[in-house]
Amino acid sequence: MHCFTFVAVSILVFTFTLSASDALTTNMTKNLKVLVSSNDFAESGIKILEEHFTVVKSRYFGFNEEGLNENMQELMNLIPGCSALIWISHHPITKELLDKAGPQLKIVATASAGYNNCNVPELKARGIKLSNTPNVLSAAVAEIAVSLMIGAARRFTENLDQVKRGEWEGIGFQNMLGQDLRDSTIGIVGFGGIGQATAKRLVGFEVGKFLYSGHRERPEAKNFGAELVPLDTLLSQSDFILLSAPLTDETRHMINKTSLAKMKKNAIIVNVGRGDLINQDDLYDALKNKQIYAAGLDVTTPEPLPKDNKLLTLPNCFILPHIGSATVRTRNDMAELAAKNVVNALYGRALISPVLP
Ligand code: DGY
Repeated sequence: MHCFTFVAVSILVFTFTLSASDALTTNMTKNLKVLVSSNDFAESGIKILEEHFTVVKSRYFGFNEEGLNENMQELMNLIPGCSALIWISHHPITKELLDKAGPQLKIVATASAGYNNCNVPELKARGIKLSNTPNVLSAAVAEIAVSLMIGAARRFTENLDQVKRGEWEGIGFQNMLGQDLRDSTIGIVGFGGIGQATAKRLVGFEVGKFLYSGHRERPEAKNFGAELVPLDTLLSQSDFILLSAPLTDETRHMINKTSLAKMKKNAIIVNVGRGDLINQDDLYDALKNKQIYAAGLDVTTPEPLPKDNKLLTLPNCFILPHIGSATVRTRNDMAELAAKNVVNALYGRALISPVLP
């Protein structure tokens, strides 16, 4: 055979064999079921899953308390026999749900960076993999972190209230004055992807310096001239304190009466992590008594925050309804990453973003 013809035929045979084996594998995986826990998972994620598996979706919205019982009941009915679970909710994954699933459940892929609700010990004990969606949401959450800093420092809650009432006190030269980001000291608790993405954006605001606390020195800190300091130093020196740490037994209520007492009178605390990083009763007292200047919260306990919650009576508390990662692009990216983790797990490949590999 002519050499060129031989190479061409070999490539053809190789290509055919490859796609034939891919198709064969896909045919074999089509009988694997993937359960998606809420009816609002992004289509781009569903599409990836449907190329390989049979997708079973809850008809219910899995976030609010309202409809939660129906959602949970339906998941209990749908999960037996499923090989993967995509979890799109801040509600806990219960032992009962995992019991119902059966031993073929290989992976839980949570469509969030945080996984405090995923019952890690129980998944670990059962040998079920867990993945999350870090990094893809850092930019969007960082934008909200900066928004909260400005919103709290420039008194958006009070100002918006005045606009709605048609009484503009802010019109005077010395009225409704706030605080600058410029030249301020920013203390970041949790200098991971979100903390760093926030620092990157804050550089443009000409802030004075960055401090961060954590278990170890971060090499990326050099990019911002950020200094690793003990938490107490961060609390006592920062004008803005950003909480972007995961919720763990160690970080739960890390902001409380004692830590609030260490902060400056002009301190602004911003939380984009989880509501339970803060003892909200203690925060309320500190804000009410003007022991600190203000707070900006994207996360609270509980969520949704009841409309009669006392934090909502405070003019110096600026609250958003957990929208950190809520942009079209970011939610698509999160859905696709969660779906790709499921594909990898069920094909026996390494997870892209493992929590439990
Ligand atoms: C996360 O990904 O953890 C965000 O808080 C959105 O849930």
